[in-house]
Amino acid sequence: MTMDHVASPSRCCLSLFLVFVAITLLVRSWCSSKNLIQAKSNLHKPLLIKQPQAVLDHSSKPQHPLDPLTIQEINQVRAIISSFPPFLYSFPSINSLSLDEPEKALVLNWTIGDPLPPRKAFVIAYLENQSHILSVDLASNKVTSREVKTNSGYPILSKEDMTIATEVPFSNPDFNRAVIDRGVALSDTVCVALAPGWYGGEEEGRRIAKVQCFSSEGTSNFYMRPIEGLTVTVDVDKKQVVRISNTGRGIPIPKATNTDYKYDSIHNPTSEKGLKNMRPINPISMVQPKGRSFSVEDGHVVKWANWEFHLRPDHRAGMVISRAKVLDIESGAMRSVMYKGMASELFVPYMDPSEGWYFKTYMDAGEYGMGLSAFSLVPLNDCPRNAYYMDGVFAAVDGTPFLRSNMICVFERYAGEIGWRHYDVNNKVRESRPKVTLVARMAASVGNYDYIIDWEFQMDGLIRINVGLTGMLMVKGTPHKNTNQVRPHENTSGTLVSENVIGVVHDHFVTFYLDMDVDGPVNSFVKVNLVKEETSPGESPRKSYLRTKRHVARSEREAQIKLKLYDPSEFHVVSPDKKSRVGNPSGYKVVPGATAASLLDVNDPPQVRSAFTNNQIWVTPYNRSEEWAGGILVYQGKGDDTLAVWSERDRAIEKRDIVVWYTLGFHHIPCQEDFPIMPTVSASFELKPVNFFERNPILRVPPYQESDMPTCTSQYK
Ligand SMILES: *[C@@H]1O[C@H](CO)[C@@H](O)[C@H](O)[C@H]1NC(C)=O
Ligand SMILES: *[C@@H]1O[C@H](CO)[C@@H](O)[C@H](O)[C@H]1NC(C)=O
Ligand SMILES: *[C@@H]1O[C@H](CO)[C@@H](O)[C@H](O)[C@H]1NC(C)=O
Ligand SMILES: *[C@@H]1O[C@H](CO)[C@@H](O)[C@H](O)[C@H]1NC(C)=O
Repeated sequence: MTMDHVASPSRCCLSLFLVFVAITLLVRSWCSSKNLIQAKSNLHKPLLIKQPQAVLDHSSKPQHPLDPLTIQEINQVRAIISSFPPFLYSFPSINSLSLDEPEKALVLNWTIGDPLPPRKAFVIAYLENQSHILSVDLASNKVTSREVKTNSGYPILSKEDMTIATEVPFSNPDFNRAVIDRGVALSDTVCVALAPGWYGGEEEGRRIAKVQCFSSEGTSNFYMRPIEGLTVTVDVDKKQVVRISNTGRGIPIPKATNTDYKYDSIHNPTSEKGLKNMRPINPISMVQPKGRSFSVEDGHVVKWANWEFHLRPDHRAGMVISRAKVLDIESGAMRSVMYKGMASELFVPYMDPSEGWYFKTYMDAGEYGMGLSAFSLVPLNDCPRNAYYMDGVFAAVDGTPFLRSNMICVFERYAGEIGWRHYDVNNKVRESRPKVTLVARMAASVGNYDYIIDWEFQMDGLIRINVGLTGMLMVKGTPHKNTNQVRPHENTSGTLVSENVIGVVHDHFVTFYLDMDVDGPVNSFVKVNLVKEETSPGESPRKSYLRTKRHVARSEREAQIKLKLYDPSEFHVVSPDKKSRVGNPSGYKVVPGATAASLLDVNDPPQVRSAFTNNQIWVTPYNRSEEWAGGILVYQGKGDDTLAVWSERDRAIEKRDIVVWYTLGFHHIPCQEDFPIMPTVSASFELKPVNFFERNPILRVPPYQESDMPTCTSQYK
């Protein structure tokens, strides 16, 4: 507060009064609108709607061993690196700079009030064709380890790399001519830098990007207007065009008509002529008359109902959940469920082997960064009104910190679902409980695509991880305006979604790292297989039935799982020594939902790089160097450092600290509804307690009564 404010108390109180009036009016107008009237009994309690705000003070010190690096710490790391001898004369580009987590034993041993374990940073610095993997110690002001990688792969492409890649073509006359020949003005041309995958040949030994361009004339959705077949291979370090491939002559640029998705562009009377609108729906909002029931302590520790976990933004994974613990109401103990969970890597192969398309096999976490691609969430639309927002603090390519505001939101969700219920016809007992959950959400916009990642916590102990896909299709230009122009044996790589636009068939895989610590780090992985048994003649009127067979996986290969509908199993992570009252091992199971498997040839270069999708489930022994399923250096990586490579060692996993990897997959055969922007498709998987609690853990949750909802009542009863 400045002196000026202190000196004018009357101004201060006047503005407070105005705020109060504004809030009261807001509440009144909302609650007295057509559908909702304010309950009389509650008139004296104005509804305080907290506007989205990041409560985190970015100048504060870290409070927890897993807190992300602060602005001050990032600045300190930058200073340490700039006085580190190899970089004295030439500061490298900083492609990754994040917390180097303390050893797990130290974190497990830490409790509030203890001094923090030494703060360290993990840095990937790139200079003159070399990736330097550094560990920087903030207490001693030193780089404590450095590994120089020159073999396979490069770090995440920085924003500056992308800018260079997309600018370089414009200084090439052949490129400019090719664009103009297609009828696109250079000033309307928008280019994107695409990761090239890895296919050897001319790409070997240099960092390249494939640049493709679009016409932005007349639309904000340039992705629907590709200059098809024009691909420029750019050497990002030398800032040179390596090659121009122009195979699309004669393919028209699709029209801008109907491509826009901005409300202002769509919502105008001329474009709506002849269209019938659906009945408008009245606004729906999540209202918590008594405020939120969760707290975010020291900026990152989320406490809600029976849950407690540490939540932090990460430039690569997007969002990291750590130390998830759940309260056991029988014993009063906070019991460990998961040490760390995050999206480790993605794989997005497109199904078109032609010149301009074969390389499109993206690994979005290691090539672009899910957190770096996660921009501020849109209040009321991305997250409901009762959401709390958390900012990300990341390092730019020059090592300076920057803030990504409102990057994660946390909110309680009541979606009208039932937690449990029963009506007993015999004695007329009628009991029902609402299902209220807590969601932590982020949305990454990796170029054309948007990934919404939710971690949802339920009071019954279940954690649901949901991935939503939306944004723009990656489309291919075609001469065809109608499917009747497609020749009988012609290979189109997808669906004609509009005139001259093909939505190319592709897959999405998101591989999650789940360091489960069910009642402590020592766990086993158990496959509970359902097998068909046949009865012997005369034994029973039944011929067959199902029985469970438990198999404890001893080593990694026994836990490489391909899901099979006709050979089903449950996948339990159990604490072998912690038994329930009746003797079952305490556990959590990984419950797959709708998913898809990669059908590419295992020796296809993109599948080798993304071999972590060869199975839906893997289990590895905990190793703090094995967190990124596609390897540390993914960009143009050859696939020599993937989960599949590590798992081939077939290490022992029984009664160890183990990590479960689950891959959620989607096949996407585009359809017209995906044009010009896709309605969200989502799929999820769950981590569900299995004999972890002694009984239904939400038995004692009280039912809602009308009097719990005093603020507003509906006139439609
Ligand atoms: C755990 O913490 C206690 C008390 O702070 C300390 O004495 C002990 O050495 C620590 N153990 C480890 C493994 O760090
Ligand atoms: C970069 O390193 C690779 C592998 O060591 C080497 O083959 C290549 O020639 C180097 N390129 C440049 C531009 O120095
Ligand atoms: C379609 O693709 C198949 C397999 O690559 C190829 O044999 C065939 O010649 C292609 N057809 C046309 C019309 O290009
Ligand atoms: C831990 O992971 C690294 C990287 O994969 C590997 O080099 C090392 O051998 C692993 N350690 C163990 C004990 O498996």
